[in-house]
This record gives sequence, C-alpha cells and structure tokens, in this order.
Amino acid sequence: NQLQGVLNRLLDLRVERKDTILALGGGVVGDLAGFAAAILHRGVNFVQVPTTLLAQVDSSIGGKTAINAAQGKNLIGAFYQPKMVLSDVATLDSLPTRELRAGYGEVVKYGLIDDFPFFEWLEEHGSDVLSRNRAALCHAIAVSCRSKAAIVARDEREGGDRALLNLGHTFAHALEAESGYDGRLLHGEAVAIGLHMAFALSSELGLCPRQETDRLQRHLISTGLPATVDQIELKTLSPEIVMHHMRQDKKVT
Ligand SMILES: NC(=O)c1ccc[n+]([C@@H]2O[C@H](COP(=O)([O-])OP(=O)(O)OC[C@H]3O[C@@H](n4cnc5c(N)ncnc54)[C@H](O)[C@@H]3O)[C@@H](O)[C@H]2O)c1
Ligand SMILES: [Zn+2]
Repeated sequence: NQLQGVLNRLLDLRVERKDTILALGGGVVGDLAGFAAAILHRGVNFVQVPTTLLAQVDSSIGGKTAINAAQGKNLIGAFYQPKMVLSDVATLDSLPTRELRAGYGEVVKYGLIDDFPFFEWLEEHGSDVLSRNRAALCHAIAVSCRSKAAIVARDEREGGDRALLNLGHTFAHALEAESGYDGRLLHGEAVAIGLHMAFALSSELGLCPRQETDRLQRHLISTGLPATVDQIELKTLSPEIVMHHMRQDKKVT
C-alpha cells in the first residue's frame, strides 16, 4: 500500500527518468524509495541520504531495495544502485539512543567479518561512538562503509562474498520473525544476539576458541546491546521455533 501511494504521488508529479528521487530517512525509507525508483519508468535516478546509523553503515550502500509482503519481510525487491550516498553524521544528533545502539550492532559485524584491528578499535572507542563523539562516529561509519562497499564490489548479486554480510543474520531474522516485528526487538539488536549465537555455535563445533565468543559477548554487553536471548522478552522462543523460522528464511533459497 505504501509503495502504491508513493508511486501514485510520483506519477502525479510527472516524475521522469532524468529526475532524481532522494531518500531522506532510515533504512525503511531508503528501501521503499529505492524500490520505487527502480520500477518507476524502469528506473529513475536515485540518491540515498541516510539518517540512522544503521542506514549510514549498511542499508544505504550496496543497492538492495525491498518492500515487505504479507508472506514475509523483504520478499519483493530489486538490486538498484543509488547515484550517490550522502551521509551527514549531524543527522544522528536527533536519533533516539536505542536506534543508535541498534545501528552499532551492524558496525560490530564489520569488525568481525575481516577486520580485527577495527574490532579492537571498537573495544576501545565504542563508548565514544555511542556518546555521539563526531570523530569516533565518522571513523566507525567510514570503516563500515568501505568494508561493505568492497564486499559488494566483489559480489554485487550475493553469489559469494556478499554472504559475509549476513554474519549473524540467520539467527537474527529468526528472532525478528518470532517477535513479529512489533518493536520489541530492533533489527540491530537482533543482529547483536545473532552474532553472538553464530560465535557460540562455532565454539560448540570447535571452530572458534571460546575466549573469542566471550570477548564478543563482553563487548556487546558493555555497549548496552543484548548478547543473548535471555536478555529479551521472547517467551515463545525454543530451538524448534528458531529452526522453523530459519527454514522460512529467504536466504535458504
Ligand atoms: N537494503 C539493505 O541492504 C538493508 C540492510 C539492512 C537493513 N535494511 C532495512 O532497513 C530497515 C531498518 O532501518 P533503520 O534501522 O534505519 O530503521 P528505520 O528506517 O525504521 O528508522 C528507525 C526510526 O528512526 C527514525 N529516524 C530516522 N532518522 C532519524 C533521525 N535522524 N532522527 C530521529 N529519528 C530518526 C525513523 O522515523 C524510525 O522511527 C529494515 O526495514 C531493514 O530491513 C535494509
Ligand atoms: Zn542487518
């Protein structure tokens, strides 16, 4: 319905292919505006101006756009690259602390993918990022963007390396699905727990030293992010339910 509304408005405004749609807002606005730009006249120019930490470090980069269907999240979408992404950290001044912290969950992911020095930097300066120190925020956002852009440049359509960006997300999506997207659990909070679950599973399987899993947990907890499912209100959760949601995950196909 929202997509239909946006498309109607753009058509009423007689937007043409050479015009530019600017998405000013968080990931929800970026995903919706990006998909509308992708399908209107088979593609009009599109610029992302992300205003949440999550959108600045993740959703505005990489060209994935999507809307939700009754059957599930992000099931309808397109790969459509913006002409430009313009991130201004000053926009984060008004972002609620919980949203900022959730975005930080994705920042931690970049430290875990292939950048141990960045993870060490976060251990030292994560509190500066979360207290909105401009220099610390700029550094965290720049490193995260470079990391995502490099991975997407190697594998735009997620045939290989781009899957690295899904670290922790299979668990995270299962938790989000069980919460019914009712606001109890933000995406970045689910990612924080998902990252820890992925590490804990790796430790169980003997693939990752237990100390590293504990170190990640300490860092997440020090920032106020949840690291385990006992820290959130999801009373219906069980291993069977998690497995059920995982089988529904669109990454399975
Ligand atoms: N396309 C991708 O690659 C990709 C990647 C990750 C996530 N996503 C999507 O992004 C969405 C989450 O994005 P999000 O975390 O930005 O959430 P969001 O867009 O819902 O924004 C979070 C909240 O912050 C408010 N807000 C935004 N900017 C603000 C500001 N500067 N000051 C005050 N309030 C502000 C919004 O109105 C909203 O209430 C999810 O739907 C997810 O599926 C997409
Ligand atoms: Zn994510």
